[in-house]
Amino acid sequence: MTPLPTACVIGAGSSGIAAAKALHERGFEFDCFEASDRVGGNWVFNNRNGMSSAYRSLHTNTSRERTQFADFPMPASYPDFPHHTLLAAYFDAYVDRFGFRDRITFETLVTRAERLANGSWQVSTEGGTTRTYDALIVANGHHWDPRWPEPAFPGQDRFGGIQLHAHHYTGEDPDLLRDKSVVVLGMGNSAMDIATEASFVSKHTYLAARRGAWVIPKYILGRPLDTLGLSPRIPYAVRRRAQETMLKLIVGEMQRYGLPKPDHRFGEAHPTVSADILSRIAHGEITPKPNIAELGEGRVRFTDGSEVEADVVVYCTGYKVSFPFLDPELISAPANDLPLFRRVFHPDVGGIYFVGLLQPVGAIMPLAELQSAWICDHLAGRYHLPPAAELRADMEAERAAMFKRYVASKRHTMEVDFDDYVLAARRERRRGERRAARAGNRLPVAPALPA
Ligand SMILES: Cc1cc2nc3c(=O)[nH]c(=O)nc-3n(C[C@H](O)[C@H](O)[C@H](O)COP(=O)(O)OP(=O)(O)OC[C@H]3O[C@@H](n4cnc5c(N)ncnc54)[C@H](O)[C@@H]3O)c2cc1C
Ligand SMILES: NC(=O)c1ccc[n+]([C@@H]2O[C@H](COP(=O)([O-])OP(=O)(O)OC[C@H]3O[C@@H](n4cnc5c(N)ncnc54)[C@H](OP(=O)(O)O)[C@@H]3O)[C@@H](O)[C@H]2O)c1
Repeated sequence: MTPLPTACVIGAGSSGIAAAKALHERGFEFDCFEASDRVGGNWVFNNRNGMSSAYRSLHTNTSRERTQFADFPMPASYPDFPHHTLLAAYFDAYVDRFGFRDRITFETLVTRAERLANGSWQVSTEGGTTRTYDALIVANGHHWDPRWPEPAFPGQDRFGGIQLHAHHYTGEDPDLLRDKSVVVLGMGNSAMDIATEASFVSKHTYLAARRGAWVIPKYILGRPLDTLGLSPRIPYAVRRRAQETMLKLIVGEMQRYGLPKPDHRFGEAHPTVSADILSRIAHGEITPKPNIAELGEGRVRFTDGSEVEADVVVYCTGYKVSFPFLDPELISAPANDLPLFRRVFHPDVGGIYFVGLLQPVGAIMPLAELQSAWICDHLAGRYHLPPAAELRADMEAERAAMFKRYVASKRHTMEVDFDDYVLAARRERRRGERRAARAGNRLPVAPALPA
């Protein structure tokens, strides 16, 4: 029997462990390198890798039912939107359940992954070890490298108070926000959570935004919102109309809360989910503001000319997609954009695969699980990619549709609808299986090394 290709997985967050489990079950030779001393990545509060963006109060905004891996349900005792400690425990239990902890090398940062002339990957770690693999699976996460406002606001250097990015907000320092005047910038989920939290202890909290968002509740009709999804077989326009109507009936217009009117229709931005923010605004504990125009000493001026005293500014301005271990000439994501076929396969560079590098309307974990099985099928010769021209045309069409639908922003470069992605992947995998069968299930990445 032809030996299977060898593989290296970078990262053991929820995406990396899904990849490692799939490789382990199918008998691949592989290493999984994890910078931290434990699995779970972002969900490990105060993770010693310094890469977690979790704060003390963080709960999922995707429901338990839709976040769990297909073959390892979360305990029934878990609430619908579990706390980060429960998620971290769940990922830890997953590794033990499937028995691959010894395949993960902990406290080992990958510093370099270089593609050699023969197509294999030379991976170097901080400890000085270098090994070569046939395939590289990148699962290093994309919510750890903070993106500060670009360009910086005038006067940021003169502000004098505290400025921090959401990534560095842990909720542990009781004095950081207590009795302070706090400005939170952004309309994503970090801004919702941090502004809400600030509003309970601060002197006053201002929520500044350069664009409005449709704030959606965690529950609708007594069910977690993401469990009420309509079939991807229904045209998107019809689904959107149904969602808009429901939102209008249940939440109403954003302007009624003093928030800016969204400059886009529902579904044209990554979902902003919050059970609390609207009530904190309605209670007068948070005052919406337009974007920051300028900072002065202990003051923030907004684009409508209004000005407030401020002690703390929290920038919830998103994250950069970074691969510090890859040669940027070969692969990088300028402005967060890395075109991939079905968010997994690089169109030009063979032997490299991405897991979890997508922004689903829904949870990442089951999609990472699906992608991992798909990559394994590919590496085992059971799934073949379409011919190059077809692959590129498919990728471009997918990107064009996404960019057309979503508001232009660095946060909208890899959006997918959960159920649509699953359905499309199922169909594409079937096509690829037929292609592979026609080619005699030849391995796409020939093992360059003795097994
Ligand atoms: C505050 C917050 C809340 C979120 N809430 C949700 C939610 O409710 N539902 C949801 O689906 N998604 C949510 N997300 C998205 C989040 O990205 C995923 O939940 C999940 O963490 C993705 O897992 P991952 O393994 O891809 O990345 P991560 O969790 O970031 O894990 C990456 C792992 O790779 C390791 N690593 C990185 N670089 C290296 C290297 N060079 N060498 C070795 N190891 C390396 C890291 O140590 C880490 O363990 C949230 C994100 C944030 C910031
Ligand atoms: N489980 C949870 O409850 C939870 C909590 C936090 C985060 N998350 C997840 O973590 C990921 C990151 O979320 P995030 O909220 O940190 O980031 P994000 O979704 O990228 O949102 C960034 C926000 O900052 C704004 N922004 C960016 N640059 C700006 C600038 N220069 N000036 C003014 N505004 C600017 C963006 O506006 P534009 O839209 O105009 O670009 C957007 O409103 C998402 O997937 C999110 O779902 C989940």
